[in-house]
Amino acid sequence: ATNNFVKIVEVGPRDGLQNEKRTIPLTTKIELISKLARTGLTDIEAGSFVAPKWVPQMADSNEILEYLLKYPPTSLNPISYSFLAPNARGLDNALSILRSNPKTYQTFSEQSSPYEPDESGISNESASDPNTAPPFVEMSVFAAATESFSQKNLNCSIDASLEKFKEVIVGAKAMGLRVRAYISVVLGCPFEGYDVDPRKVAEIACDLMEMGADEIDLGDTTGMGTAPRTAELLHAMQAAGIRNEDLTMHFHDTYGQALVNTAISLEHGIRRFDASVGGLGGCPYSPGATGNVSTEDIVYFMESLGMDTGLDLDTLCDIGDWITKEIGKTNSSSVGKAILGK
Ligand code: HMG
Ligand code: MG
Repeated sequence: ATNNFVKIVEVGPRDGLQNEKRTIPLTTKIELISKLARTGLTDIEAGSFVAPKWVPQMADSNEILEYLLKYPPTSLNPISYSFLAPNARGLDNALSILRSNPKTYQTFSEQSSPYEPDESGISNESASDPNTAPPFVEMSVFAAATESFSQKNLNCSIDASLEKFKEVIVGAKAMGLRVRAYISVVLGCPFEGYDVDPRKVAEIACDLMEMGADEIDLGDTTGMGTAPRTAELLHAMQAAGIRNEDLTMHFHDTYGQALVNTAISLEHGIRRFDASVGGLGGCPYSPGATGNVSTEDIVYFMESLGMDTGLDLDTLCDIGDWITKEIGKTNSSSVGKAILGK
């Protein structure tokens, strides 16, 4: 990948849907993922192995994972599907599905790979040939930058959560799965306001990297991030030795600053961003938080800068419009609405 390439991780099926009060049918979730798989995306966050009494909307994530393994959606590229797991229980639930469906997914470890990559699938350079390789599966842990958010979101302190995440990270890596490690409320907390120390974020990031995380995902859960604070955070990460290629930025657009903060991050050298189609989303433990920056807006923005995302904007606009209608929300992608003439 050249320095012009920006990876967009689609988090709509998880972050976008987790907060919806009305139960969304499993078939709708699967249809969303299947549509997204045909846009050129390589990374889709598909569900969450958390306690169903805490986040009922994600209770069918086991069925989603199983479906994706048994009937992998047609895609242009091999796709990596990621799932949140807050503890060993969540990881075990995911692993038991993987174990009962051997050879249906690829792993990153050469030694224990259950799948022998076939040339045509792995080195599929031509976008017109459909991908035939099975998907990758990734697990994501999610720490918080403040004690109050950790208590609300995970029911434990930051240190106690890191103990649990270590089990998840080590267990997932032992199965050859890649691990994403979120840190939430990095630019503002619903309970502690702007009192979030970038050095604390960097310290947590270093702990998670040491445990074996493959990627640190910095979550502006509340959308309180501003341009100067984003720059300050990225400098703190750099000072702590976290490399740009280890980082993903996850902006919520609650205050309309997501693309500004994206621009600051790009300038700093970050090349991986989370987004959700239609601007879906919100966090159940962050009152008033709205959706992630929309995939349509971020792709349009990248195109305007001459950056390459490999994604088809028109198709993304159609999907954003379809899913928001399907779940009875307004389409909150400016670009989506403009392109569709709404
Ligand atoms: P707890 O109550 O402290 O844990 O919850 P517990 O161990 O006492 O378990 C409570 C109940 O949950 C028990 O069931 C467990 O069996 C069950 P009961 O005995 O009451 O019937 N349980 C589980 N069930 C299924 N899967 C599991 C699991 N673990 C326990 N993995 C826990 C602790 C972490 C489980 C809980 O707090 C929880 O699930 N929280 C979910 C938080 C969450 O999903 N938040 C939203 C995602 S984070 C986010 O959106 C931010 C992000 O987008 C980035 C950003 O924007 O910044 C990622
Ligand atoms: Mg989020």
